[in-house]
Amino acid sequence: MWGVPLMTSPAFRVFDSPAAAVRELAFEVSQLIRSRAAAGRQAVLGLATGNTPLLFYRELIRLHREEGLSFTNVTSFNLDEYLGLPRDHAETYWTFMHRNLLDHIDLPAAQVNLPCGTLPDGEINAHCAAYEERIRQAGGLDFQVLGIGRTGHIGFNEPGSPKDSRTRRIQLDAMTRQDAAAAFGGLEQVPTHALTMGCGTILEARRIVLLAWGEHKAPIIREALRGPVTDQVSASFLQEHPNAAFYLDRGAAGALD
Ligand code: PGA
Repeated sequence: MWGVPLMTSPAFRVFDSPAAAVRELAFEVSQLIRSRAAAGRQAVLGLATGNTPLLFYRELIRLHREEGLSFTNVTSFNLDEYLGLPRDHAETYWTFMHRNLLDHIDLPAAQVNLPCGTLPDGEINAHCAAYEERIRQAGGLDFQVLGIGRTGHIGFNEPGSPKDSRTRRIQLDAMTRQDAAAAFGGLEQVPTHALTMGCGTILEARRIVLLAWGEHKAPIIREALRGPVTDQVSASFLQEHPNAAFYLDRGAAGALD
């Protein structure tokens, strides 16, 4: 056959607003959860933190409260967690997930998985291996939601993260720490390291949607979608995923053709 590209870029969709994008995303996720429930099966979701998914979580909570969406058959795995903060620190992803989603829905605590950011160095490798094993035992990630950092990271896979990397400890990029400084009340308060699922862990998800809002994300979205596939921009690996999509607002799509 001719005229068929050897490599297709992941689909991207441009929405009028983040609210419109997350309605679509939440509908897709709710369909997965409901169809699995009807079959007596679990839906395995990979979840993200940051400003980007906040509206998505608000929409999931609305679906739970107003449209009877139950999460009792969901198993969740978060992408990442800062290292060295007490679990209930205001900026941990454990706190973020509970405040912005888990405290408001019926997802059983035993089915919630987040990397643990309080372990001594000597226990980290085993913890990361066990995290990978739990994902495998759950049957792999059905649906992974991603944000993107200005370094192009997905999870905390900073530039230089190999395509086949797995859950591990990582040093945060200076730009990533700078972007977190306001929330932490100063750059020196921002942790230097984190645990993150690897690019390989993420890319094994059967469906991936990356969300990005705002003009400040436009340059890195262009690199991720139109630039070379490179470990310098871990989101560029999504170009090679068979079922990944970028959901963008007009600002984030502003540097695309
Ligand atoms: P943000 O962070 O959603 O707060 O922009 C995204 C990311 O760093 O992955």
